[in-house]
Amino acid sequence: MNILLVGSGGREHALAWKITQSPRLSRLVMAPGNPGMAALGETRPVKVTDVPALVSLAREIQADLVVIGPESAVEAGLADALAAAGVPCFGPSRAAGQLESSKAFTKAFCARHGLPTGAYVVSDQAAEAKAALDQFQPPYVIKADGLAAGKGVVIAPTRGEAEAAIDDALGGRFGAAGARVVIEEFLDGEIGSLFALCDGTHAMVFGHAQDHKRAYDGEQGPNTGGMGTYAPAPLFTDDLVERVRKELAEPAFAAIAAEGFPYRGVLFVEFMATAEGPKLVEFNVRFGDPECQVLMLRLESDLVPYLMACATGELNRLAPPVWRDQAAVCVVMAAEGYPDAPVAGASITGADGDFGREVEVFHAGTRRDETGVLQAAGGRVLNVCALGSDLVQARARAYEAVSRIDLPGGFHRTDIGWRALDR
Ligand code: GLY
Repeated sequence: MNILLVGSGGREHALAWKITQSPRLSRLVMAPGNPGMAALGETRPVKVTDVPALVSLAREIQADLVVIGPESAVEAGLADALAAAGVPCFGPSRAAGQLESSKAFTKAFCARHGLPTGAYVVSDQAAEAKAALDQFQPPYVIKADGLAAGKGVVIAPTRGEAEAAIDDALGGRFGAAGARVVIEEFLDGEIGSLFALCDGTHAMVFGHAQDHKRAYDGEQGPNTGGMGTYAPAPLFTDDLVERVRKELAEPAFAAIAAEGFPYRGVLFVEFMATAEGPKLVEFNVRFGDPECQVLMLRLESDLVPYLMACATGELNRLAPPVWRDQAAVCVVMAAEGYPDAPVAGASITGADGDFGREVEVFHAGTRRDETGVLQAAGGRVLNVCALGSDLVQARARAYEAVSRIDLPGGFHRTDIGWRALDR
């Protein structure tokens, strides 16, 4: 099979790493890819939102399948254009992608279909949004409605900070994505990330993990796209997985199909395990980043048939995936200033070393300068991942590898997995 993989982050590097292990693969082309991905196959400098160029590339390489990594490509309508061109695609249509591209859409969708989630108010007026804070208790959850690369969420402990977050978003900090804000009830409990595949009709749970969203140790600092993940997480009892499947994932697939937009791809159900049961925090229309990294390390089964089956409507022909018994941990090495103002250009040393069979270093935001030196090029720079017989061993291996990599000015959390290990 010829596969075109769209994206350039740690999630896509992990997907590429797994796809290249498939005996079904003839050729993998990645657009645009990153220096880590370039070591696995061909990369082409095409932007993830350049839909016509991606469709041409898919045709040129006679792609049997296009795999969409990031939500920005979903929002750009890549799956729709590929469908029109007759190219099988793993990734939802733009309309189904509203489950991530508009938080206001998703909250109204949950209300229409009775999916459990917290109370909310949507507003595009600062005075109205601030007045609506009366309906909520601190901490206040303020979200930009649209896609903001993981930066549009503020959890404000005080009313003053909540009002500042409203002013920030409506004042243009996130561009059009912040033209409306969603104020949400803060859900108390433990947060989890569950992944479910759908081929338009059939659904299947496809792993779960826990992420650390705050920038600094002890769940301090600003919200980020995720600073580290681990799996399996003890939060995910069989009972909880069943509840999330039955109460959130499957009803969402049924409802979005009933609204005329059958879902093809992976749905990332980010939920809070509250005292009343799982409640939706948000849907994302792609694999989590860095959740995908630990999923791919633990996935024993060939990934490609699952991706293909979602595109062709044949998921019911496949057995559930097999996972390794081992635990996996991912530690994000971030650039100085992340998430607010990441500094690019630091020269990285040690990332290309040999860390042994149980460790993988996925590139998330890197580039090579003209002399071949690896540099930081984004907020989250490297994802240092390891397998171990348990979380303790996986974590020790990941941090040992982190200690051998130098990212000047950069930082990472030192407590990934604490929720599981402190239990
Ligand atoms: N790690 C959370 C996300 O991918 O949005």
